Amino acid sequence: MKPTKSLALTKPDDWHVHLRSGEMLPKVLSDTATSFNRAIVMPNLSPPIRTTSDAVLYRREIEAALEKNSDFTPLMTCYLTDETDPDDLISGFTADVFSAAKLYPAGATTNSDSGVTNVLLLDSVFSAMSDAGMPLLIHGEVVDHKIDIFDREHKFIELILEPLRSRHPNLKIVFEHITTKNAVDYVRSGQPDKLAATITPHHLSVNRSDLFAGGIRPHLYCLPIPKREQHRIALVEAACSGNKRFFLGTDSAPHLIEEKESSCGCAGVYNSPNALQTYIAIFEKNDALDELNSFASLNGPEFYNLKPNTEEIEFVKRSSPVSIDDLVVGSSRVKTFEPPFPLFWTAK
Ligand code: DOR
Ligand code: ZN
Repeated sequence: MKPTKSLALTKPDDWHVHLRSGEMLPKVLSDTATSFNRAIVMPNLSPPIRTTSDAVLYRREIEAALEKNSDFTPLMTCYLTDETDPDDLISGFTADVFSAAKLYPAGATTNSDSGVTNVLLLDSVFSAMSDAGMPLLIHGEVVDHKIDIFDREHKFIELILEPLRSRHPNLKIVFEHITTKNAVDYVRSGQPDKLAATITPHHLSVNRSDLFAGGIRPHLYCLPIPKREQHRIALVEAACSGNKRFFLGTDSAPHLIEEKESSCGCAGVYNSPNALQTYIAIFEKNDALDELNSFASLNGPEFYNLKPNTEEIEFVKRSSPVSIDDLVVGSSRVKTFEPPFPLFWTAK
């Protein structure tokens, strides 16, 4: 097919990804390492990555699974629990093992059972992180099942995040995979070196009606759950604004097809193979391709005090849609995210 347009980007990083372990790892890692130079690797394995020595071993497993000559760098995170030892956490950060720590409220999402039951228990950990300049990455949903699933993110801001930020005003926080206008507005109100947010390709592309378009769509089910269209529009505006508080984080979260197509399907969307292509389509539709480099490649490194990558990646626009292939894992498959619009851009 003849290319009609091209686009060059500084090689992006993925500031939020699930690489898993075992048989799944080399497969999904290859898709991530093709598109991204670095990635913040989520620690919600079973059992989770809770200590510096867990992270050293997991990083080794990732590095061993990389293709030869790959210059991809995994950036490790610590899974916070009620028992996290601040000394181990900070020594892991100072030794460049950990890049950040992840707060999962217990019970909020996949493999979060050992997460934090009460953030007040971690105030000494947050103080130590704040002093060290170590970023706290937050899955921002309350877990009270009396609170409607569509309200759990904005309630989290009021009940947990704002009080936590008043107690620790210097803590660097990434509000991960935001899904509401409330979160967009809240992040805009913070200091850009202290409060930022990642935005996923799927939350930019689908709203809650898409989850039920013509029937239940298990492959679009993820947490936080996509919200109403007005919220999706607010996310698109934030991503396309060039505001340095917002950056790329795919939250690519693979699950085998039988775990998704089930009477109780897992939350998670696998988008690594076409995440960049989806972001490009969204920015193009919104006449914002000029802002894409900041969102995809500059804002994240700036927040994490890292240099942007020096390499470039080039995309071309095809005249007919590109195909979306699933990932084969052993005798099963992982379904790749299909946005509700065709994708025309591919890496050159
Ligand atoms: O949809 C999700 N899947 N949200 C999360 O927070 C976790 C993730 C996973 O690990 O599958
Ligand atoms: Zn995630």
